[in-house]
Amino acid sequence: MELFIDTGAVSEVEEIAAWGVLSGATTNPSLLAKEDGEPGDIIRKIADLVDGPTSAEVVSPTVEGMIEEGRALRTLHEHVTVKVPFSAEGLAATRALTDEGAMVNMTLVFSPNQALLAASAGATFVSCFMGRLDDVSVDSAKVLEEIVDVLHSRDLDSKVLAASIRHPEHMVTAASLGCDIATVPAKVLHQMLNHPLTTEGAAKFEEDWKSRPEFAEWLGGLVAKNKG
Ligand code: G3P
Repeated sequence: MELFIDTGAVSEVEEIAAWGVLSGATTNPSLLAKEDGEPGDIIRKIADLVDGPTSAEVVSPTVEGMIEEGRALRTLHEHVTVKVPFSAEGLAATRALTDEGAMVNMTLVFSPNQALLAASAGATFVSCFMGRLDDVSVDSAKVLEEIVDVLHSRDLDSKVLAASIRHPEHMVTAASLGCDIATVPAKVLHQMLNHPLTTEGAAKFEEDWKSRPEFAEWLGGLVAKNKG
């Protein structure tokens, strides 16, 4: 499963892109509304940093408006993926935009039927929101499992993107169900780093190494020799 970062904060992308784990990013109007600065600058910077698909969302309620906004957003950066909210109008805009070569992330998908329609309209990514399903007492794992089944078993080209990831357990669920991508907030990516046994183990290695001071000298010499 590939990892995208779900954010409008360039500083978060700068930090986590340096880990070498990201292959794309997703923004949305709510995430961008929290940030200072012009949305276009933010989207360009994020797309540069992740060097992969970067979703920027249309907001028009009409087919024509979505298509025009999608075309305009694509001029920002070669990695811009047009994010289109699910609706009848969104499906028509997705078909038009993908027919002219755009990547489209169809968002706000909450059922296998919606996912099937999104994929049939040519969506590159179909985003199912796990946290928001759980918020209304719908089992997100079950819905996602059905979406993966519907899209993968029918040889549709769309990738299943798990979104609204609220905690590390959502990540494990999305990966084990066979989702193609998860888009993850920086907070959850930080939570995924931590395990008390890792911290404890690293401290013990350091302590044992330092108990033999000559080892530090040996390793320093080896590094220097290798650098020439
Ligand atoms: O990208 C949209 C999605 O990930 C939103 O998450 O936590 O606002 O439901 P959330």
